[in-house]
Amino acid sequence: MTEQPLTEKALTEKAWELLAGLDPVSTKYPARARLGGEGIVILRTKSGFRGVQRSCPHMQGTMMNAELTANDTMVRCPLHVFTFRLSDGKGVNCPGFRLKIYEVKEENGALYGRSVS
Ligand code: FES
Repeated sequence: MTEQPLTEKALTEKAWELLAGLDPVSTKYPARARLGGEGIVILRTKSGFRGVQRSCPHMQGTMMNAELTANDTMVRCPLHVFTFRLSDGKGVNCPGFRLKIYEVKEENGALYGRSVS
């Protein structure tokens, strides 16, 4: 009997990518980064780092100016106050809008990211 090289979970699980040029301590956040060829913004929340797409899904306002809210569990675009959950990107006051969210982990003095969905 041959062993399967990859389980279904391993096939669907996204790999962590190094967020080059970011230091968990000395970098000022929010900070720009690239992940999987896309520009994203890294936020530092009370419970750790989180990544979001660089422009708001409403009218492309920059998420570099976004504000953390609801005890850092949500992010709000200041242009028209659209607010999104950092857990899954779902719009809380803007049905139908969703922000791309990225998990970010700190390891050995570097940051790594991967998309949540
Ligand atoms: S551009 Fe972000 S809420 Fe309108």
